[in-house]
Amino acid sequence: MSRAAARIDLDAIRSNLSLLRERAGDADVMAVVKADAYGHGMVEVARTARAEGTTWLGVALPSEACALRRAGDSGRILAWLWTPGDPCIRECVTAGIDLSVSSPWAVDEVIAAAQAAERAASIHIKVDTGLTRNGVLPSDLPELLARVQVGVADGLLTVEGIWSHLADGDTPGAESVSYQRAVFDEALAVAARHGVEPRLRHLGNSGSLFAHPDCRYDLVRTGIALYGLSPAGVLGRPADLGLTPAMTLTATLAHVKPVTPGTSVSYGWRWSAEESTTLGLVPLGYADGIPRAAGAPRVGQPVEVAVAGARVPIVGTVAMDQCVVDLGVLDAAPGTAGEWTADHWADAIGTIGYEIITRIGPRVPRDYSGAGEGPS
Ligand SMILES: Cc1ncc(COP(=O)(O)O)c(C=O)c1O
Repeated sequence: MSRAAARIDLDAIRSNLSLLRERAGDADVMAVVKADAYGHGMVEVARTARAEGTTWLGVALPSEACALRRAGDSGRILAWLWTPGDPCIRECVTAGIDLSVSSPWAVDEVIAAAQAAERAASIHIKVDTGLTRNGVLPSDLPELLARVQVGVADGLLTVEGIWSHLADGDTPGAESVSYQRAVFDEALAVAARHGVEPRLRHLGNSGSLFAHPDCRYDLVRTGIALYGLSPAGVLGRPADLGLTPAMTLTATLAHVKPVTPGTSVSYGWRWSAEESTTLGLVPLGYADGIPRAAGAPRVGQPVEVAVAGARVPIVGTVAMDQCVVDLGVLDAAPGTAGEWTADHWADAIGTIGYEIITRIGPRVPRDYSGAGEGPS
């Protein structure tokens, strides 16, 4: 019996994708597979999305895009976060991977890579509409457009997209969204006045498909909902949205022992049994992505694990490789399997499901089911 596994249901991803497409209407849906597809396995998820007819995959890093190409993916990919001198830019251009540009240096580096590769590079100009991360400031957009147009005139660049990212896409009624949308529309108008009219305008993410359908434009970049988690508690649980969580983390109890009242557990003795109980040892710790804070939850909200159909709390400090659960009167022997859901964990320790699933570490093997059973 394996110590632990993350079971990934590729059929859940297919069904989530289909729901997102329905919501997107005429807009295309990009499958965001960065960060190892939010911990679900980038190549396997990409393959599933492509088999369902997905045109666009999205990643943060050029190296992630190149890894997809090396795994045999030949479709459209956009990579949006890179730094001067990134060693993968030339490979990206050669491999026909789209790159986001926010600054003059990025335009210059893409043009140089296109010259070296002897082919035009496809770019998406990112505009900072208010998230204040990457993206050209609207005031600097005309200068960037002028630089881009030199590359276009020389046959070294094509502008496939103009895009931006929302600060509160998952929050119904958020004022920032109407503000960002107005700034985005103005940026598109400025680009058009400079003769740049891209095929794709994209602004929204998963949450916006539920909270702000007016942000769909031509393409919506979806990550978290593809994996079946709710983009935000305010929108409801996954089931309320018609989503199916794709990952289930399971582990096998490594040890079970009875303890007497007053017995303290794990580093720092931060938890002690108030009465006689039975403890179970889960062979997963913070090196596997179990938040250390799960051992010290906010008052009144123990972080729970499902064991033999019941929910039992984690007790004491989570260690690097293991943590302890209080089984109470539950009759569970070593070898009993347990599981828990990302959203409940996130709520209990005050974070978001995104953080829980992306942190499940590489020591935890992924077991695939559905959609052709994963890796081939
Ligand atoms: C630029 C960009 N677009 C889209 C996404 C997907 O967002 P979500 O997972 O909320 O759908 C992300 C994720 O962080 C992102 O960074």
